[in-house]
Amino acid sequence: MDELITHYPPDHRRAAVLWLLHLLQAHCGCLGREQVEWTAAKLGLPAINVWELVRFYPMFSEAPRGRFHIKVCRTLSCAQCGCGGLFQALEQKLGVPLEAVTADGLFTLSAVECLAACGTGPVMQINDLLFERMTPERAVALVDQIRATGAIPPAALAPLRPAHPLERRLLLANMSQPGYTGSLADYCAAGGYEPLKKALALKPEVITAEVADSELRGRGGAGFPCGMKWRFLDRKSDKPVYLICNGDESEPGTFKDRQLLYRDPHQLIEGVLITCHAIGAQVAYIYLRGEFPDGAVRLEREIAAARAQHLVGRNILGTGFDCEIYIHRGAGAYICGEETGLIESLEGKRAYPRIKPPFPAVYGLFGCPTVVNNIETLCNIPLIVRQGAHWFHQLGVLRSTGTRLISLSGAVKRPGVYEIENGKVTLWQLIHDIGGGTLHDRPVKGIIPGGSSMPILPAAHLDVPIDFESIRLAGSAAGSGAVIVLEEGDDIVQYALNVAQFYAHESCGQCTPCREGTLWMEKLLHRIHAGGGRAEDVALLQDVADNIDGQTICALGEAAAWPIKAFLKHYRGDFEKVCRANGDVP
Ligand SMILES: Cc1cc2nc3c(=O)[nH]c(=O)nc-3n(C[C@H](O)[C@H](O)[C@H](O)COP(=O)(O)O)c2cc1C
Repeated sequence: MDELITHYPPDHRRAAVLWLLHLLQAHCGCLGREQVEWTAAKLGLPAINVWELVRFYPMFSEAPRGRFHIKVCRTLSCAQCGCGGLFQALEQKLGVPLEAVTADGLFTLSAVECLAACGTGPVMQINDLLFERMTPERAVALVDQIRATGAIPPAALAPLRPAHPLERRLLLANMSQPGYTGSLADYCAAGGYEPLKKALALKPEVITAEVADSELRGRGGAGFPCGMKWRFLDRKSDKPVYLICNGDESEPGTFKDRQLLYRDPHQLIEGVLITCHAIGAQVAYIYLRGEFPDGAVRLEREIAAARAQHLVGRNILGTGFDCEIYIHRGAGAYICGEETGLIESLEGKRAYPRIKPPFPAVYGLFGCPTVVNNIETLCNIPLIVRQGAHWFHQLGVLRSTGTRLISLSGAVKRPGVYEIENGKVTLWQLIHDIGGGTLHDRPVKGIIPGGSSMPILPAAHLDVPIDFESIRLAGSAAGSGAVIVLEEGDDIVQYALNVAQFYAHESCGQCTPCREGTLWMEKLLHRIHAGGGRAEDVALLQDVADNIDGQTICALGEAAAWPIKAFLKHYRGDFEKVCRANGDVP
C-alpha cells in the first residue's frame, strides 16, 4: 500500500484509495466499518469519502462473500449465447440465490455486467480468472472441482482466430505469429522499441505533426482526431502534463483492448512512451477496468521488464527523457470509461463525469492538462512513427484512416476480434465471410455497429462499409468497433430490455434524466416483455428516451436513449405486437 501511494503526487494521496480498498477486500473478505475507517485514516480522508466509494463501485462489498466469487456476465452478447442456462445450473448446484453465501462459506454467485469477452460467451469469472465458452455442465463441474481441490483450476485466454483473407493485421500482427508470447524479447525480435528510439531523436512537435497528418481517429468511441487532441493541450500552463490510457473497455460488445493488453503489452507500453514524449508528459496512468486483474499483473511485469532495459523510468535509453507508467485499477462501473468520469475515479472519487468545458486538455487529472486516449489508439502510435503518416493515411478511406479492430459477437458462427482496413469491408462481408454467417443460418435482423450504445441498423444496411463516415451516414456510429449481430427470430423486445437493464444499472446517478429515465425505460420494457404492456407503453417509452437524449452532463444519457430509440424506429411493430397480444389494443 505504501508503495502504491507513491504512484500519485503527495498532495493527491487520495488517488490510491481504490488500490487500497482492493487490497483490503482481498485480505479481509469485505469492506466493513473497520476497513473503511482504517483506509480513511491512512489517507487522511473523512470516512464518508471512503464509504461513498464502497457503495458506488460494484466490485466492492460491505458483506462478506464466499471464498470463491462466481460472476456470470448477463449482458447482451452473453445473453444471446445462453448465460441464462449458467445462472439456472449454478443456482441449483449451489442451492442459494444470487449474492448469498453457501453454507460452507465457499461460494457466492453474482450476475455482473459485460466482462469484455463477448466473442467467447457465455463467460464467467471466478475471483480473478476468466472462463470462456461456458456451458451449464462445465460450470457445475468447475464448482465440483473447486470443492474437491480448494483451488480454482487455471484458465488461459481462448486463442485468437486465424487471420481471414479480408483482414489486414497490423496491431494483431505480432500476436498472430505462432509462439509469440508478448514478452519483451519477443516484441524486440519483431522490431519493437525501434519506433521509440526513432521518436526520441525527433522533436515532440514533429511526432504530433505526424500523428495529426495520419488522421488517426480515437478508437475508444467518439472517433476524435488524435493529433488534434494532443494539440489542444494547454501549453501555457506550468503544471505537469499527464497521459491517461483508457483501458476501461466496458462498452457491451467490445473486447478488443483486452487482446492488445494481454497478448502484446509492449506495443501499448511503447505507444504510451512515444505519446508522453510527444505531449511532454513524464507520468502516464493506464486505467484498467477492475475486471482485468490478471491483465494488470501481466502489464506490471512487462513494465518492470521494460524498466530493466532502461525503456521506462529515468533517462530512457540515455536520452534524458524521463517517463513513469503506473497502472490504476478500477472497480467496476461503466461510467469510468467516460473520460472525465475516469479522471474523477483516478483521483479517488466516485466516477461522476465533469461538465465540459473545460476539457481535460486544459483541466484534467489533478487539475492539470491531460490527454486521454484509448488502448487501441495508443497502439497505433508506434506504427505511425515507424512507417510515417503518409503510409498510415493510405490505409483505409477518407476520414477513416488505418485499420480498425472489430469485436464481432452475437448471432454469428465465428465471433472474435478481427482487424480490417477502415472502409474496405462491408457489414455483410464481416458477418458472412469473416464471421461465417449467422448462427442459425437465418437472415440478419439487425446489426449494432459500434457497441450496445449505438443505434441498431436493420438488414437493409448490410452493404455499408465499416468506417466512421459510412456508418454515420447509415444512421448509427462506429463507436468502439463492436459489431453485435441479431438474426431473424431473435426477440427484439428482450434485447431492448437487456440493453435497458445495462444502462439503468450503470447510470452513475448524477443527472436526473439519466438516473430516473434509464430506470423508467427498464421498468416499461420489463412490463412489455412480461406480457403486461399497455397500449400507451410504446409511445411512453419513446417519450422517456427522447427526454434523456441531450439532457445529461455526459454521453451516457445518449448511450442509454439511442439504442432504445433505434429499436423503436426500426422494429416498432415487434413492441406493439406484444402490447396488443396483451389484449389492450390502441
Ligand atoms: C459512457 C461512456 C463510456 C465510455 N467508455 C469507454 C471505454 O470503455 N473505453 C474507451 O476507450 N473510451 C470510452 N469512452 C470514450 C471516452 O470518453 C474517450 O472519448 C476516449 O477514451 C478517448 O480516447 P480516444 O480518443 O483514443 O478514443 C466512453 C464514453 C462514454 C460517454
